[in-house]
Amino acid sequence: MEIKEYLKKQAEYINGKIREYIPEGIPEKLFDAMAYSLTAGGKRLRPVLILESAKAVGFEKIEDIVDIAVASEFIHTYSLIHDDLPAMDDDELRRGKPTCHIVYGEAIAILAGDGLQSYAFELISSNKKVPPDKLVRVINLLAHGTGIYGMVGGQAADILHEKENAFDDIQFIHTHKTAKFIQSCCQIGGVLGNGAQEEIEALGRYGLYIGLAFQIQDDILDEIGDEKKLGKKTKKDREKNKLTYPAVYGLEKSRQMAREYVENAVEQIKILKSPDVLINIARYIIDREV
Ligand code: IPE
Ligand code: IPE
Ligand code: MG
Ligand code: MG
Ligand code: MG
Repeated sequence: MEIKEYLKKQAEYINGKIREYIPEGIPEKLFDAMAYSLTAGGKRLRPVLILESAKAVGFEKIEDIVDIAVASEFIHTYSLIHDDLPAMDDDELRRGKPTCHIVYGEAIAILAGDGLQSYAFELISSNKKVPPDKLVRVINLLAHGTGIYGMVGGQAADILHEKENAFDDIQFIHTHKTAKFIQSCCQIGGVLGNGAQEEIEALGRYGLYIGLAFQIQDDILDEIGDEKKLGKKTKKDREKNKLTYPAVYGLEKSRQMAREYVENAVEQIKILKSPDVLINIARYIIDREV
């Protein structure tokens, strides 16, 4: 099966699980806003990376850890809701639909994001199959990758550049806003899959490199991608003074740098038991049009 088809199948599996784990018994509008953004679509790359990283170190009991994979998508969806807010990137289209704040208003969109984030950690810490010490390690990795030392730090740097020209380290921005979260997903898969320390470290290096390539491709698609396929507005980054790879290096050099990151990523995981799917995912990341 081609990687694109395989990823589609995996995303469908995750979609079913997301529906199972959406929290209930909360104010209706909050539930609707969370469910709206969660079920709007998306590649489900982060949960897939958790599961595939676990498989790559030889783990098979996927059903025991799928709630943790789902939690990563809750966090990712929160990050998109907040990224689209008027005070941030001010976007009106996401995953082919009007953004959360357009439909539910800013206050509920902010709270839907907040709710998805804390519920993700509630979900992980409620898992009964994984030993508690491992769950703590997972929570630590995810909080680190998505919080001040990762995504939140990177998003702050991105916005500081855009609004105040107060930050101009593109490597820092891309590493933190995108790559560290993706890295943590690969490490989490390694931990949950009972990988050896050196395997988890290799997955961490792989995740950081594919994460950088992923954001470079996102930048490229903002310039040359198809709005319909992407489900989000294109050609916005330059207009908004975003620091992107194409803006700094041009399209051709950006493509080349992304390719180099991917090949570097692939080198890291050759020591794993079954690296093939992860290798194909790395290559798909820079071939993707969505
Ligand atoms: C978009 O992420 C935001 C970035 C970090 C570049 P994705 O491209 O994974 O978005 P979905 O989940 O497929 O919608
Ligand atoms: C990544 O950057 C956003 C997050 C970390 C959530 P972008 O702002 O470029 O993502 P898109 O292009 O809006 O999806
Ligand atoms: Mg942004
Ligand atoms: Mg954005
Ligand atoms: Mg973008």
